[in-house]
Amino acid sequence: MNVLILGGGGREHTFCWKLAQSPLCKKIYTAPGNAGTEQLSMNLPLDPMDFKAVKQAVLEYQIQMVVVGPEAPLVAGIHDYFKQDEALHEVFIIGPQKEAATLEGSKEFAKKFMQRHNIPTAQYASFTAETVEEGKAFLEKMNSPYVLKADGLAAGKGVLIIESLSQAQSELESMLVNQKFGTASQTVVIEEFLSGIELSAFILTDGNTGIDFPMAKDYKRIGEGDTGLNTGGMGAISPVPFVTPDFENKIKDRIITPTLEGLKKDNIPFQGFIFIGLIKVGEDPYVIEYNVRMGDPETEVVLPRIASDLMELLVATAEQRLTEYNISVDSEVAATVMAVAGGYPEAYEKGNPITGLEPTEGTLLFHAGTQKKGSETVTNGGRVLSITGKGATMKEALQKAYNRLKSTHFKNINYRKDIGFDL
Ligand code: AMP
Ligand code: GLY
Repeated sequence: MNVLILGGGGREHTFCWKLAQSPLCKKIYTAPGNAGTEQLSMNLPLDPMDFKAVKQAVLEYQIQMVVVGPEAPLVAGIHDYFKQDEALHEVFIIGPQKEAATLEGSKEFAKKFMQRHNIPTAQYASFTAETVEEGKAFLEKMNSPYVLKADGLAAGKGVLIIESLSQAQSELESMLVNQKFGTASQTVVIEEFLSGIELSAFILTDGNTGIDFPMAKDYKRIGEGDTGLNTGGMGAISPVPFVTPDFENKIKDRIITPTLEGLKKDNIPFQGFIFIGLIKVGEDPYVIEYNVRMGDPETEVVLPRIASDLMELLVATAEQRLTEYNISVDSEVAATVMAVAGGYPEAYEKGNPITGLEPTEGTLLFHAGTQKKGSETVTNGGRVLSITGKGATMKEALQKAYNRLKSTHFKNINYRKDIGFDL
């Protein structure tokens, strides 16, 4: 089967690497891909949001499965676009239909879904420009810190956590009235602040049944000790050491099962990955958010731990035969450290040559923002490389990743030295 992977980050390189190992996978294409995916697949220079261009490529290269990496094409309805097209409707799409993608595309939709199905999450209320004064009054009844969330997709920047009431009120006004995040903040969700440690659960579902993939913890802040600006993710660890069997059962019983049941009850079809952002408050799990895709860099630690043929699982997902399958997970710990361009997540340079990309024993090197330029590989994004180490312990896995990083160079390389510090 020929497969097209949409996206061009570390997540997509990891999918490419994993699927290339499957005998079911004939030829892989990645759009737009990066210098890493170019080694394993054919990169196609097209924008995943340009559905017509995706269609053309699918027909031209006889692609039978499309794996959608990022959320934007899913929220924009790429799955439905394929299903409604005479020439494309038999192509397998991994990534949910538009309605289900709204679980990530609208925080309010996700909150209502959780409320309807009794899934534990922070208390909330939502407001629009018409109700901004009620929103300010609502904040007065809440305790600090205040959590304000733009309803729509805002490239990971739409959540504000604010200490002062007056500042929270003025930010609310700026989001709703001045459209601080454009149309994404036409509606704002105000939430109760939950205090605890975060982790993520991943489920592959065909809409009937779900297979639990390994859980992971990511590190979102740029600075050591989880300080500074939010990023797409600076590193990740899997498994998550504080997930005891008892806590895992709570996640399954209170969150994963009701989520899958809720989708069925609401008649919301879903074929793809559900990524549930969780927080452990005391001994109890709460949902922070739903995503409708795999995480990046969580994929870089989750897929390397999977012994099963992923392609087989994806075909079964599309054919709604997942109930026939199990997943086999290797017990080693995987840790990934993201090397980023100096300045990221603010302004940074692109186009700097990268050296030291040769493979080494015990590590995997996934490309994120990289590009081939003649014989050179150069930086092409804020997050540049994700280096995954595997070992019997988290310490060993991290040591391998950090050792590998010592021999990798590009101008102004930056990475967190403390991934896993809190575990
Ligand atoms: P999100 O974009 O929904 O993942 O939110 C970004 C980050 O904000 C999360 O990873 C949490 O660290 C934090 N966050 C979101 N909602 C809450 C909440 N209700 N209480 C505490 N922290 C939150
Ligand atoms: N690492 C977080 C995300 O992929 O959304």
